[in-house]
Amino acid sequence: MMNPVQPKPCTILQVHRESEHEWTFRVETDVKVAHGQFMQLSIPKIGECPISVSAQGDGWLEFTIRSVGKVTNVIFEKTAGDVLFLRGPYGKGWPVEKFQGRHMVVITGGTGLAPVRSLLHYFAGNPEYTKSVHLISGFKNEEGIVFAPELEAWKDSFRTIYALDNDAKEGWRTGMVTVFVKEIPWESFDGNYEVLVVGPPPMMKFTGLELLKNGVDPEKIWMSFERKMSCAVGKCGHCRIDETYVCLDGPVFPYTVARNLTD
Ligand SMILES: Cc1cc2nc3c(=O)[nH]c(=O)nc-3n(C[C@H](O)[C@H](O)[C@H](O)COP(=O)(O)OP(=O)(O)OC[C@H]3O[C@@H](n4cnc5c(N)ncnc54)[C@H](O)[C@@H]3O)c2cc1C
Ligand code: FES
Repeated sequence: MMNPVQPKPCTILQVHRESEHEWTFRVETDVKVAHGQFMQLSIPKIGECPISVSAQGDGWLEFTIRSVGKVTNVIFEKTAGDVLFLRGPYGKGWPVEKFQGRHMVVITGGTGLAPVRSLLHYFAGNPEYTKSVHLISGFKNEEGIVFAPELEAWKDSFRTIYALDNDAKEGWRTGMVTVFVKEIPWESFDGNYEVLVVGPPPMMKFTGLELLKNGVDPEKIWMSFERKMSCAVGKCGHCRIDETYVCLDGPVFPYTVARNLTD
């Protein structure tokens, strides 16, 4: 019998440098993934790490990876034609069926755009699926911007606010994403909306609080969490917080659960 957690060798088709430390790897595979799920990527004898699927197509998946340590640094030595080992997909992604016919507000910080990127592709390609999409994306500085051509193209499909924390850039705003929450026309949504938030933990915490200040219903907020993992299948307990296994129950959680998951 085949071992379900056995990683499979997959060929890298393309490597795209989004920024100095964030690169997107397109990998050949027939695996089908729900928006917001993650895969375990590994290099034999080095290790394994969970990475969100940032885009998907016929016969390929993309992963946007930040080089931070042992495994990711070795992945950055790979190029088109080399092999990466994949297992998955794992976890619960975005509850896409709840988003049909709704006004969507998507708020991202830095590479937090990656776990929601394939869903944004879906929204842009299926404009009848949602009532509207409002995207607020913030980055520390110009060097940290990822998916620049897509951000530009999404201006035609979505209502966008793009911002740099402290720097100025033509056509962009300056300030943290939390500052722009009040510019979303919440009243006009008549309660028919959902909000997705992804980014570093402090960004998610303060965005959650700002949303509540603006009268947003906590039941309509969703967050995607990163947490140290090992098995990704609910066996090792590495990702466990109280009774919650982030690998099985997440990485996407309703805010009502997510706000209690900070250590
Ligand atoms: C569900 C999920 C989805 C993820 N999606 C992405 C993604 O799309 N792109 C991406 O670049 N990264 C993503 N990550 C984070 C990624 O898994 C870690 O950066 C990776 O495991 C680091 O491995 P490493 O061996 O290179 O670094 P290590 O040598 O293990 O660690 C280097 C540094 O990173 C810290 N670190 C390690 N893992 C995590 C983590 N999970 N969260 C926060 N800090 C960590 C360590 O404490 C250490 O300081 C995701 C994590 C999860 C759980
Ligand atoms: S990573 Fe092993 S239980 Fe979640």
